[in-house]
Amino acid sequence: MLDHTAMTKTLGEHYDLAPSVETAERLSDIYERMNRVVTPVEWAVHAPYVEAINRLKKERNAVILAHNYMTPQIYHGIADVVGDSLQLAIEATKVEADVIVQCGVHFMAETSKILNPSKTVLIPDMDAGCSLAESITPEGIEEMRRRYPGAPVVTYVNTSAEVKAASDICCTSSNAAQIVAGLDAETIIMTPDKYLAQNVANQVPEKNIVWYDGACIVHEKFTAQELRDFRSWQPTTRIIAHPECPPDVVAEADFSGSTSGIIDYVTKEQPEKTLLVTECSMASNIADALPGVDFVGPCNMCPYMQMITLEKVLWSLHSMEGAVEVDPTVAEGARVAVQRMIDMSKKLGV
Ligand code: 13P
Ligand code: SF4
Repeated sequence: MLDHTAMTKTLGEHYDLAPSVETAERLSDIYERMNRVVTPVEWAVHAPYVEAINRLKKERNAVILAHNYMTPQIYHGIADVVGDSLQLAIEATKVEADVIVQCGVHFMAETSKILNPSKTVLIPDMDAGCSLAESITPEGIEEMRRRYPGAPVVTYVNTSAEVKAASDICCTSSNAAQIVAGLDAETIIMTPDKYLAQNVANQVPEKNIVWYDGACIVHEKFTAQELRDFRSWQPTTRIIAHPECPPDVVAEADFSGSTSGIIDYVTKEQPEKTLLVTECSMASNIADALPGVDFVGPCNMCPYMQMITLEKVLWSLHSMEGAVEVDPTVAEGARVAVQRMIDMSKKLGV
């Protein structure tokens, strides 16, 4: 557990982190990418952190991999690479720098470590978990195998290394349907996200998909009724939902895809009014690049993703604390499942 008071005190002794209009103006080119969603006063608060992190990143020979759910000041201010879970995993394999700072949740940092074990992989807050990752253990996988003998286990990357190691292949929201369709089996076990599994079952009806009982606390909250109500109130709104939403929610949407799939769709289509049925940072991160798009309607915050802040990123680079370690035997098993996913995705052109 981070000692927040001690962290703030130590950082204050080493860096000038007071809100600064001068620093904000010096970094105005960065601010331009988020000025629709971050006020000038907020930017004067963030800019000293952004400057300190970008300087320290060079000194430490570090790269920052950031998920699409990070706040705009992380996404636009300090990230070297942004993307969805699949893109970040692929990018992790290519990192040549000594240090990876994973701005995302713990399973993402673990995946980077599994794929590029010689690097120091830092997570700015070890407690940044995921309700899906917490929902299943290797015993849960074994129980599913006992219930459906011989069926391959396709496990969402939102899981621990131990769970990945107990699985046959991983998937993400951007390749789950293609991976399931490409497996040479009639019955397929999908873990741990029951809604992703049900959405894939609708897309790949030729397979008998059975699922575990996990869910994402952010996406399970959306309901089909609220989307119907919204559509009847604002009929021209384009509704876009992440596949971790329940299937009746996805059925109300005009498009469903991974976080990067959603960004690509909105960037291409530029609907005048757009409702993103997912984490709130998604709309914030693309608002400035798409001035003609009005992002409307409700969204939910992921409490785990929101644990990653500029202050904690600066602390991890300063202290080099928060290195993710994975038992080598577990890592080897997990790497097989993740690498199979990457190889199959490339083969299928996903
Ligand atoms: P993506 O792979 O679509 O980025 O999703 C990750 C995630 O945690 C969504 O809740
Ligand atoms: Fe996990 Fe849901 Fe948060 Fe994604 S949004 S990290 S699936 S809890």
